[in-house]
Amino acid sequence: VDFGLKKELEEQIRVFPDFPKQGILFQDLTPVFQNPETVNRLAESFISAFDGKFDRVLAVEARGFILGTAVSAVGGRPLALARKKGKLPGEVHRADYSLEYGTATLEVQQGTLKQGDQVLVVDDLLATGGTLSAAGELVVTGGAKVAGYAVAATIEGLDGAERLSPTPVFSVV
Ligand code: PRP
Repeated sequence: VDFGLKKELEEQIRVFPDFPKQGILFQDLTPVFQNPETVNRLAESFISAFDGKFDRVLAVEARGFILGTAVSAVGGRPLALARKKGKLPGEVHRADYSLEYGTATLEVQQGTLKQGDQVLVVDDLLATGGTLSAAGELVVTGGAKVAGYAVAATIEGLDGAERLSPTPVFSVV
């Protein structure tokens, strides 16, 4: 991990207790998105963490779209979208998951992920790992492989990375 980048992120991420529900410690990354240099360095750190060994990026709605787009553009790899239920037209693959708060469904358009592709799954945050494991399921259902998971930050004590193991997880904070 690039410790300069880690420090930069720690300074920028804001924590809001009891949002959007009582007991949830919300990590707000919007200040990070106001710093294009930080976003660029984050994208580069994701790419180098996996030695550039991925063919495609799968970004998770909604905040994962921002970092996923950066990784796709900086790394020159196609971007695929894992969206919440009912947003994508055409035939989709679907994976249900439970969130730190509530339940949800992720979808990816059929044919988006190519057979045998190594896919880097990108999101802003790893908490329980429910979201990323559903995204990983979509990759496998689509006939591709998960090269790894990359996030800006992980919330400690929720065992998110253990849930995704043995697939590698890269997190700056
Ligand atoms: C947040 C975050 C991750 C997920 C992490 O998204 O952006 O996607 O929760 O939690 P987990 O590891 O426990 O699954 P959220 O579902 O709030 O959606 P949003 O990005 O659309 O706001």
